[in-house]
Amino acid sequence: MRSSPSVARLLDWYARHRRSLPWRAEPGETADPYRVWLSEIMLQQTTVGAVIPYYERFLSLFPSVTNLAAAADDRVMAAWAGLGYYARARNLVACARAVAERGGAFPADIDGLRALPGIGAYTAAAVGAIAFGLPVVPVDGNVERVMSRVWAIDTPLPQARPLIRARAAALMEQEAARCAPSDTAQALFDLGATLCTPTTPACALCPWAETCEGRRQGIAAALPRKAPKAVRPRRHGAHFYLADEEGRVLLRRRPAKGLLGGMVEIPGTAWRADPWTLDEALAQAPVLQAGWVKRGTVRHVFTHFELLIDVYAAHVASVPTGAIDTGYLCAAGDLATQALPSLMAKCLTLGQNTRAEAAPAADYSADLLV
Ligand code: ADE
Repeated sequence: MRSSPSVARLLDWYARHRRSLPWRAEPGETADPYRVWLSEIMLQQTTVGAVIPYYERFLSLFPSVTNLAAAADDRVMAAWAGLGYYARARNLVACARAVAERGGAFPADIDGLRALPGIGAYTAAAVGAIAFGLPVVPVDGNVERVMSRVWAIDTPLPQARPLIRARAAALMEQEAARCAPSDTAQALFDLGATLCTPTTPACALCPWAETCEGRRQGIAAALPRKAPKAVRPRRHGAHFYLADEEGRVLLRRRPAKGLLGGMVEIPGTAWRADPWTLDEALAQAPVLQAGWVKRGTVRHVFTHFELLIDVYAAHVASVPTGAIDTGYLCAAGDLATQALPSLMAKCLTLGQNTRAEAAPAADYSADLLV
């Protein structure tokens, strides 16, 4: 049997090449569980680069878990808007409130962490290792890639996951890892993000190059193998940008449960498999005879389906009260503070584009089609 990758070598590399990240304790500092938890929730399905500005703004708005627990849901959703996967934001508030009820301290054990809303196996391990020094290895996409390469695990994902997890957990058998679980976890993240990258691993610079079986076999860049993806179904919707003389826009809040739950949108139809014909769509407009003009189509990719939204725009002197019943009028200057998911921000942009000639969508290659 060949030798295991050395955690001591990994930590030596990390001491010289670690990334400086806003949620990361610098050497000699104590990690703050609130910051670690917040960053881990934000980093799920979102890149480090995209998270940093949100994280910094969030922390300035809600500097502690008790501040976050006391915040109105709307404020939190508005601060989260654009990060996507909005169930995470709802669970974030629920978790902060559960921690506040315990006096503001996160539990310092895996079972206690896992019992909190929105904390699954990965997040419990990440917070446990990074904030509390528990001897566990969180396995995210980076760590999966590193482990599958180092051990040349050829089985495709997701079937390979149990073996990958076992290999990662076994790192804690090494004394260097048990002495520094927090650095071990973060070193693995950094190795995956900076050297052991998806398409072109920089093996020449890697502290584990000598023991990497994937590199020895010449298959590192092809790992981890992935089972072919199912084709995403397509759904269609129509949404309506309605502005009054004062430039106020009609908005409404989505139901608390379900996709984009609790977020804000311009009114629209259901999202269904068949495209909406013009007549079908306009029959559902918030005001019927308003001179609707089709502005274009917005494309948005969710995990399980692709959505195409036709955006219609109209301007009226004043919005009838019957239409406002289902939502509220928002001044143009207040739009930026609404909990608008990025999909709806795209729809608004298209709707606001009043001077542009409406043009039919020619293809669906761009995210925003005018
Ligand atoms: N990916 C997931 N968690 C991370 C962290 N704490 N630092 C850097 N990248 C990460």
